[in-house]
Amino acid sequence: MKQTLLLKVNPQKPDIEKVRVAADIIRKGGLVAFPTETVYGLGADAMNPKAVLALFEAKKRPLDNPPIIHVENANDVYRLAKQVPPKAERLMKEFWPGPLTLVFKRSETVPDVTVAGLDTIAIRMPRHAVALALIRESNRPIAAPSANLAGKPSPTSAKHVFDDLNGRIDAILDSGPTHIGVESTVLDLSVDPPLVLRPGGTPLEALRKILGDVKLHPFVVAEKELSIEKARSPGMRHKHYAPNAEVIVVEGAIPAVLAKVKELAESYRLKGAKVGVLATDETAAAYRAVVVKSLGSRFNLEVVAQNLFSLLREFDAEGIDVIIAEGVPTEGLGLAVMNRLRKASGYNIVKAE
Ligand code: TXA
Ligand code: MG
Repeated sequence: MKQTLLLKVNPQKPDIEKVRVAADIIRKGGLVAFPTETVYGLGADAMNPKAVLALFEAKKRPLDNPPIIHVENANDVYRLAKQVPPKAERLMKEFWPGPLTLVFKRSETVPDVTVAGLDTIAIRMPRHAVALALIRESNRPIAAPSANLAGKPSPTSAKHVFDDLNGRIDAILDSGPTHIGVESTVLDLSVDPPLVLRPGGTPLEALRKILGDVKLHPFVVAEKELSIEKARSPGMRHKHYAPNAEVIVVEGAIPAVLAKVKELAESYRLKGAKVGVLATDETAAAYRAVVVKSLGSRFNLEVVAQNLFSLLREFDAEGIDVIIAEGVPTEGLGLAVMNRLRKASGYNIVKAE
């Protein structure tokens, strides 16, 4: 067990002394969790293979799933990537700093373990003053997967990080809850048209405005388990976002969803399970008999995304056995929300009609 240092830092005006303490840890090969605009990341020096190995170990993450490399300046991309296509430059100008990760051909200077032996590298510039200050003060790119134990929902608060990783990492920079709540969008530009490997904080609609044609990888919209040979992103092969509870997603038009959720909740209750319903503001009042949590309004998918992971963790903390979740529309951030929910359910999806 390590002693995990907790450092509270103002999200807008980070206390530079505290950021320097954290940056020192990174430079010495240690592990620091820090906030980004999406979720908390667990950072290590991307150019130090030992530090990156320790990162995989702390998260219990399989070595074949590489982390995203975080930079504080778009120019750093030219040192980490072999080629930067014009489309990438347009996207960097438009969306960085922000929740968009771009996949490039990688430069040989990046250690193999950092990219899990792939010939590509995933890079993003986060839109968060603390993350940017930490990278700047560390003076090197920071490899940072989400700061959860592998397979658990991503952390949207320092408390989530603490619950998963206390004693396993050196420090946590705590700047309160994250703003977006789902991870960055991962876009592969090595193919034409560009391919979304993971929907996230940058909506597909926004990418299409800039690029025209953008395709979704079949995994992104999968409603069932696909064969792993089709995976283009290593992360697609691994179980993700899953709380301890069993998750069932009910999709369809509202009245049918309401009836189906009620029916399922009742049948699990009769079997003796502790049932939780993940609802929305428009429907929550209809489910009186069980533990009900609302993601927010179905018409405000930004708020739904913000609340998703923390509510999944709350159900676990309350000892819920089965979570019955309503589907939400797959537009804007809803696409990322549904991708996470479907994965969390292990594709246990019920179509209500
Ligand atoms: O918002 C985010 O992206 C957060 C914050 C901390 O920045 N990070 C994050 O990292 O979600 P992680 O490691 O949990 O997810 C990284 C995803 C994985 O699905 C991984 O497989 C994929 O990016 N990835 C990494 N390198 C890749 C590559 N070279 N090609 C394709 N996918 C890659
Ligand atoms: Mg993750």
